[in-house]
Amino acid sequence: MKQVYMETFGCQMNVADTDRMEQLLFQSGYLRTSAKENADLVLVNTCSIRDKAEHKIYSLLGTIRPLKKANPDMTLALAGCLAQQEGETLIKKFPYLDMVLGPDAVERVVEAVDYVKTQKKSLVWTEFDQEKKYSIPISDEPAAKTSGPSAYVNIIKGCDKFCSFCIVPFTRGREKSREPYEIYEEVRQLVDRGAKEIILLGQNVNSYGKRDMQPPTPFHELLYGVAEISGVERIRFTTSHPKDFTKEAARAFKDLDILVNQLHLPVQSGNNKVLERMRRGYTVNEYKALIDLLRSEAPDIAFSTDIIVGFPGETDQEFEDTLELMEWVGFDSSYMFSYSPRPGTPATEMEDSVPLEVKKERLQRTIDLQKSLSDRNAKKYIGQVVEVLVEGETVHKDYDFKGRSPHYWMVNFSGGQKTLKSGGLAKIYIESASGHALRGTYRSPN
Ligand code: 5AD
Ligand code: SF4
Repeated sequence: MKQVYMETFGCQMNVADTDRMEQLLFQSGYLRTSAKENADLVLVNTCSIRDKAEHKIYSLLGTIRPLKKANPDMTLALAGCLAQQEGETLIKKFPYLDMVLGPDAVERVVEAVDYVKTQKKSLVWTEFDQEKKYSIPISDEPAAKTSGPSAYVNIIKGCDKFCSFCIVPFTRGREKSREPYEIYEEVRQLVDRGAKEIILLGQNVNSYGKRDMQPPTPFHELLYGVAEISGVERIRFTTSHPKDFTKEAARAFKDLDILVNQLHLPVQSGNNKVLERMRRGYTVNEYKALIDLLRSEAPDIAFSTDIIVGFPGETDQEFEDTLELMEWVGFDSSYMFSYSPRPGTPATEMEDSVPLEVKKERLQRTIDLQKSLSDRNAKKYIGQVVEVLVEGETVHKDYDFKGRSPHYWMVNFSGGQKTLKSGGLAKIYIESASGHALRGTYRSPN
C-alpha cells in the first residue's frame, strides 16, 4: 500500500474532514503513516480562523520543502480553510505544492491525487459545490481505522451567520444539511464499529434542516431520532449558536437521558454594543435567558464558551462586562482568543483600535478568571460518583484509565483493571481535581 501522512489544524470539522479523506484514500490504496519522510502523499488540512493558525501552517510548509526535494515523487497537498481562502496564491508562494483543495473538495480527494499523478500538473479546486444537497455517502467498505468510543458525525456544513469577525462563511460556504436518513445510517454503522457516544457536528448545528429539506427536519427532531438508535449511549452536539437555539432543543435535555447535560454555547462578548458590532444577533439578556431556560430543563447542565477580547473599539468597561458575564454563567471552560483581523471580513473595516499589549492583558485576565471558575466547578464533583465513558489507559503514572464524565471533564482513575475496557461505562468516585481533570477510584460498572 502507498502511504499518506496527514496533519490537521483547526476545529472538529477539519478533524472530521481529515478522517473522511483518510477513509477515501484508504479505499484507494493509501495507508496513513506517522512518518512524513517516507510518505507518497503529504496532506495538510489547514485552518485560517486566526492569524496564528495561518503562520503555523506556513512554517510547517517550510519544513516539508526539503522532504519534497529529496523525494520529488511525493505529492504535497493543502486542504481546508486556508486553501480555500488563498487558492492560487498558495501555488505562487509555494511552487512545490501539488494541490490546493477547499473544504468542498474533500469528497474528490482521490480524483485530485490521480489528476496530479497522471497529468503531472498542480491543481487548485476551490469551487463551492453547486449541489443543493450535502451528502457524505455511507460505504460498506472497511473503515480506515476502528472507531473509538466517541464518534463525530457531520450533520450540517457551512455557515450563514456572517459574524463580522469570522472567515468561516467565506471558506466553508452556505449552510447545507445532510438528510436525516443518511445521518441515522452513519450512526448505526459507527455503533456497529464500537462507538458509544455520538457527537453531532456542524458550524451551527441549531440551524440544521432549515433549508432545502423535504419535509423540513428541525434540529431537535434529529436529536430524538438519533437517541432512538439502539447502542447509542451518549449524545453531544457542537457548535451551537445562541440566536438559533430553540426551546424545543432545550427541552430535549430534559426528555433525553442520553443527551448529556453539557453544552458549548459561544457568547464572544458580554457587552451589547460589542455583540452588535460583532453581528451576533442577540443581546446579553437574551443569552442569559437562554442559559436560564436550559438550566430550568436540566438543572445540572454545564456550559463552555468562546470569548474574543480586543474586538475593534472594545473599551475597558465593555471588556469588564465580558468578565462579569463569565462569572454570572460560571463556565466550566472557555476558549479565549485575541481578536485577529481576517481578510475580507466586515470587522477589518473597523479600526483595530485595541493595542496589542491591552489585548494580551485582557486575554490573560479572562484566562485567570476562567481558571478560578473551572477550579470552583471541579470542586462540585469531589465526593460524588460520576459515570465515565472509558477511553483507555491513561499515561498518568498514578492512575489506570481515563475517560470523560457527562459534563465533559477528563477523569483519571485507578482500579477496574480486570473488568474495564475502552468504550465501557464505569462509576467513578471523585477524590480530587487538577486543572481541567478529575481524579478518582473505580466503584462499579454502570
Ligand atoms: N479573531 C479571534 N477569534 C476568532 N474566532 C473566530 N474568528 C476570530 C477572529 N477573527 C473565534 C470565535 C469562534 C471560535 C471558533 O474562534 O470565538 O467562536
Ligand atoms: Fe463564524 Fe459566526 Fe458562523 Fe460561528 S456563527 S462560524 S463565529 S460566522
